[in-house]
Amino acid sequence: ALVVRNRMRSSGNWAPVVAVVKELEERCATPVGKLRQVADAMAVEMHAGLASEGGSKLKMLISYVDNLPTGDETGLFYALDLGGTNFRVLRVQLGGKEGRVAKQEFEEVSIPPHLMVGGSDELFDFIASALAKFVASEGEDFHLPVGRQRELGFTFSFPVRQISIASGTLIKWTKGFNIDGTVGEDVVAELTRAIERQGLDMRVSALVNDTIGTLAGGRYYDNDVVAAVILGTGTNAAYVERAHAIPKWHGLLPKSGEMVINMEWGNFRSSHLPTTDYDQALDNESLNPGEQIFEKLISGMYLGEILRRVLLRLAKEASIFGDSVPPKLEVPFILRTPVMSAMHHDTSPDLKVVGTKLNEVVGIPDTSLKTRKVVIQICDIIAKRGARLAAAGIVGILKKIGRDTAVKDGSKAVIAMDAGKRWIRHRCSSPCSFSLSVSRACTVLKDVNLMLRKLDGSHLAEGKKKREFIYRGC
Ligand code: GLC
Repeated sequence: ALVVRNRMRSSGNWAPVVAVVKELEERCATPVGKLRQVADAMAVEMHAGLASEGGSKLKMLISYVDNLPTGDETGLFYALDLGGTNFRVLRVQLGGKEGRVAKQEFEEVSIPPHLMVGGSDELFDFIASALAKFVASEGEDFHLPVGRQRELGFTFSFPVRQISIASGTLIKWTKGFNIDGTVGEDVVAELTRAIERQGLDMRVSALVNDTIGTLAGGRYYDNDVVAAVILGTGTNAAYVERAHAIPKWHGLLPKSGEMVINMEWGNFRSSHLPTTDYDQALDNESLNPGEQIFEKLISGMYLGEILRRVLLRLAKEASIFGDSVPPKLEVPFILRTPVMSAMHHDTSPDLKVVGTKLNEVVGIPDTSLKTRKVVIQICDIIAKRGARLAAAGIVGILKKIGRDTAVKDGSKAVIAMDAGKRWIRHRCSSPCSFSLSVSRACTVLKDVNLMLRKLDGSHLAEGKKKREFIYRGC
């Protein structure tokens, strides 16, 4: 094999490289016809998931949120956001329509990896202790009416079966979390116990998924927001459903007649999804094989890992990086999505960023321009597939709620989007990573509009705030 490889390289034989890339491109292709099938399948699964518990891979979880913010809210609120590689604590003083967000402070703490796979108490104690420190630093700009207890909104970005707005049991962990003894438990009770252990006087008043938070955050500023999408470490969507279109809901009909649904679309799967052997292997070797298939094609936790797998094959079968396989390239998850996107967005003539990243992150020095170009091409194939599939998912939602065509009163359908806390956080230090989140989201937007136009001549309405998608955090 070595002789063959050497011969290939010395004769500059790129045929094996080209063949692998071509195959990848074909398998990942998302022509509009296919996307339309994905959108249709999404809408069908949404119906099935709403019809009965366990009726679909889409859990279509009832959030118990039947009213969204109007902008009139006032007072001091705390929030805790857990669900990716970081968690955030935040306090905000809302001043109604005039004052809006009068004052806001937050802190972000990265979760030590051992806590993501450890015990429940350890994780919740860690969080509650950061929360207690944060509360202790509350300044005089924040006003809590005398005699009122501090209230906390808990954004917990995992699938939870709720029985009220402030309680719910964890269905399963996703995104690399795997903590013993939490599945089936009420996560609000776990957090409350940890808060008490800190001696902190605070009540958890709402438990929401991050999609619901994004939807509420979008609605706070724009009444036309109908759905929210997360493209972060994981991916998911939530939207506003008519309560009587939820056959599995046996509770009282909410006054508003509406109920927000957390789709958990990361778990969507369909024979129409374009998948490859790399995806198959990634899934088999993951913490949750057979689950979160849509998420594994789209979200930040996995895109870099797919790229690593393709590069590894190119190293092994086409000697793209020379005669030996760079050992670091064998290490799962060593190539993170922010690195992939930094390479993807390299526009320098000699693709310097690609060269530097390959060297620093996977220990591959001295790559030729030709090789770097191939790397970018692969990034593009993987990112495009993810963005277009997310777009198809959005079209599926719009179809389900009858907003895929223009409505008579001319009102708009606006999608709130969170394109990744991690990436947005990187904005300050690295313009490259920032452009990633925006440009990925924009690709999605472009694709949604393109698809809608192809479907029926309409297109997503423009949001009031110039952008069609509202980015939380930007
Ligand atoms: C995963 C979680 C989901 C969350 C999403 C985005 O898919 O299961 O609850 O909304 O990641 O963070």
